[in-house]
Amino acid sequence: MNSKRNGVHSHFVPTVLVLLYLFMARTTIAVVEVHNINTDQSSLLAFKDNISYDANDFLAKNWSAKTPICKWFGVTCDSFHLRVTSLNLSYMGLAGTISPHLGNLSFLRKLDLSNNAFHGSLPSEMTQLRRIKLIRLNFNHISGEIPSWFVFLTKLKLLELRYNNFTGMISHSIFNITSLQKLNLAVTNFGVFYHPTSSTPLHYNI
Ligand SMILES: *[C@@H]1O[C@H](CO)[C@@H](O)[C@H](O)[C@H]1NC(C)=O
Ligand SMILES: *[C@@H]1O[C@H](CO)[C@@H](O)[C@H](O)[C@H]1NC(C)=O
Ligand SMILES: *[C@@H]1O[C@H](CO)[C@@H](O)[C@H](O)[C@H]1NC(C)=O
Ligand SMILES: *[C@@H]1O[C@H](CO)[C@@H](O)[C@H](O)[C@H]1NC(C)=O
Ligand SMILES: *[C@@H]1O[C@H](CO)[C@@H](O)[C@H](O)[C@H]1NC(C)=O
Ligand SMILES: *[C@@H]1O[C@H](CO)[C@@H](O)[C@H](O)[C@H]1NC(C)=O
Repeated sequence: MNSKRNGVHSHFVPTVLVLLYLFMARTTIAVVEVHNINTDQSSLLAFKDNISYDANDFLAKNWSAKTPICKWFGVTCDSFHLRVTSLNLSYMGLAGTISPHLGNLSFLRKLDLSNNAFHGSLPSEMTQLRRIKLIRLNFNHISGEIPSWFVFLTKLKLLELRYNNFTGMISHSIFNITSLQKLNLAVTNFGVFYHPTSSTPLHYNI
């Protein structure tokens, strides 16, 4: 009787362990979000979804899921990691909002959306763009407070926000960015910025 119960027991334990293992494996997969080229594709498709006006239907045709994203117009990939490193859609006649999914382009180093008609505020998910060096958003209709999370983009060298509809002042902690000496901050609608420790204006137009 006792041995029979033990038999049932010893069979039961490994099953529980296997189930527990499978459960944990599933949980781990769900928690650790792996960003790869597929994430980049879904991020760009979500970005496209929030574009409400595309003058020549250019993105509608060119950004086709049938073509690899690295061949899409305005998209540049790094040939080693095969991840999106640059998105340049300047002068494309686009209108719409900037999708929060942009924040998932974790290898992005350059973002140029200048001279379009993007509106709405900048999604705070952009704070995840830890490799970003250049953000150029001049000549759009972007509104809201100038984000304070720019200070977390520690690789940022160039930030251009001129001719938008931002309110407020850029946070003084922008001066905490270590690459600041190379930062070309061109926000002429807010005047010229001075580094607190120097008399050299940071204002710089390119
Ligand atoms: C962005 O697109 C999604 C659908 O992909 C939509 O649900 C959302 O409302 C859009 N956001 C804006 C601000 O247009
Ligand atoms: C998208 O644009 C790129 C760059 O202009 C071009 O090489 C490619 O053939 C276009 N793809 C499609 C599907 O239109
Ligand atoms: C984006 O493309 C435009 C037009 O081709 C070019 O003038 C600009 O320098 C590019 N931006 C970056 C950041 O390379
Ligand atoms: C990407 O970003 C969106 C919005 O910020 C988020 O909901 C989603 O889970 C992210 N991850 C992937 C893999 O798309
Ligand atoms: C810019 O902001 C002002 C004041 O907040 C508002 O009246 C105007 O409609 C905005 N313009 C655009 C293009 O968003
Ligand atoms: C920026 O540096 C100052 C001191 O130099 C510190 O008080 C402040 O908390 C820092 N801000 C951020 C956002 O790191």
